[in-house]
This record gives sequence, structure tokens and C-alpha cells, in this order.
Amino acid sequence: MIWDTHAHLDDDSYKGDFQDVLARMEASGISRVTNVGYDLASSERSVTLAQDYDFFYAAIGIHPHNAEEVTEETWGKLLELAKNPKVLAWGEIGLDYYRDLSPRPIQKEVFIQQIKLANEVGLPIVIHNRDAHQDVMEIVKAYPPRYGGIFHCYSGSWEMAEILLKLGFYLSFAGPVTYKNARHTVEVARNAPMDRILVETDSPYLTPEPRRGKRNEPTYVREIVKKLAELRNLSIEDVAEKTMRNAESVFRLVYTRQKV
Ligand code: NI
Repeated sequence: MIWDTHAHLDDDSYKGDFQDVLARMEASGISRVTNVGYDLASSERSVTLAQDYDFFYAAIGIHPHNAEEVTEETWGKLLELAKNPKVLAWGEIGLDYYRDLSPRPIQKEVFIQQIKLANEVGLPIVIHNRDAHQDVMEIVKAYPPRYGGIFHCYSGSWEMAEILLKLGFYLSFAGPVTYKNARHTVEVARNAPMDRILVETDSPYLTPEPRRGKRNEPTYVREIVKKLAELRNLSIEDVAEKTMRNAESVFRLVYTRQKV
């Protein structure tokens, strides 16, 4: 049983074969998926998936790319969605200085605002950080998430990881940990405490080897589990089990509340 803690299965690329994707996922022991919003519409779709399927859970929030689209109305609607018991996190939120699709001051403002909202409604946060290490660190130190959080597709150094671990964050690994040039990510995946790591696909993006470049899907989260098992000299079952417990812990999901 594996929990894919970050996916976007509401993406258009699944329109033609959504049920097949779910069937493959079920057949390969992927028992839970957190579908993550990046704007208001995708947050709504994530909640709909979580309502329609037992194994889907939702995260809601505004990605830094979409920060500029936010209006006062957006917050009211997200707060309404947050009341759904299958909404387990606020995200993905953060900073993206690689593509800079929204102006940086607005990205920061929207990131901070969402940490405050997550604190208000009692949800952990899911952080997207691309080429913005320093500002992300400053913000999470100045505005600590009261219910913890996840650095999704962790890509920073081991030095940064150590600080984040001290601050209580979980680190989530995706396809890049299987890539040949992923020296830093591999170092972190090898050294992070076993009770603070998660696995994800970020489907349809970041497809792990050996399918890199093709569309991703939750089934391939097995490649991440396999890689972690190799790096840490553990069995695949062991990594699956431990990352499942970690996900239950960060998402505060009482096992008996939602049997899968
Ligand atoms: Ni994502």
C-alpha cells in the first residue's frame, strides 16, 4: 500500500483514459492519492475527486504561477472548500523564481496569506519551491505553519534539508530522485530521517525513470519507493509502509476515519 501524496489527476491529459489510470493504480497497490490544486478551479476539481472516490484526498490552494489571479473572492471560496473533511492540506503554495509567471512581490504576499489561512483552518501546507530557496526559508521562519507542512518534490541541498527538518517539515520525493544528475536530491533521500519522508508522482509531470519524458501516473510512484529502498538498504514493503504512516501523520488522517 502506497500513498501518492501529490498528483494532478484532474489534468486534461487523463481525459481519454482516466478509468484505466485508476485501474492500473489499484492493481499496483497505490491505495491513496492526494490530488493537489494550483488555482481555484483545480482546487474545486480536487475536492470533487475526493468526494467521488474513497482513495482520493484533496489539497486546495493557489500556486505561485497563479498568484496574480487572486481576488478577495478567491479566499472565501477556498475557505468554503476547506470545510470538506477530505481536504487534508493547503497547497500547493510557495514561490517559483524559475518561471516567474507572477511578479515576485505578489507571489510572496499570496504565499504568506495562505500560510495564515492554513493556520486558521487547521491544515498543513504543501510547498512548491523552485529557485527561491532563500525567500521560502525566510517566509516559513517568519510565518511558521502551525500544522506543519511538506516540501513537495524536494530539490534543495542537504544543508537546507537539515534546517527544514528542525522546523518540523516533511520532505517529499518525486521522479527527479531517479534521474542521473540528481546528486543533491539523492543525498537528501539517503540521509533524511525515515519518519519524515514522503513519496509522490506530481502526475502528469516529473515521470521517473525508466519512463522519463512520458506522461506520469500514480502507478509509477513505485519507482520512487524502489529508489528509496535501494538508497536506504530497506525493502520496498518497508518504505511503502513507513511513507504511508508518515503521510497519515502529516495529513492527520486517523486510520479508522476513512478505511481504504
Ligand atoms: Ni504539483
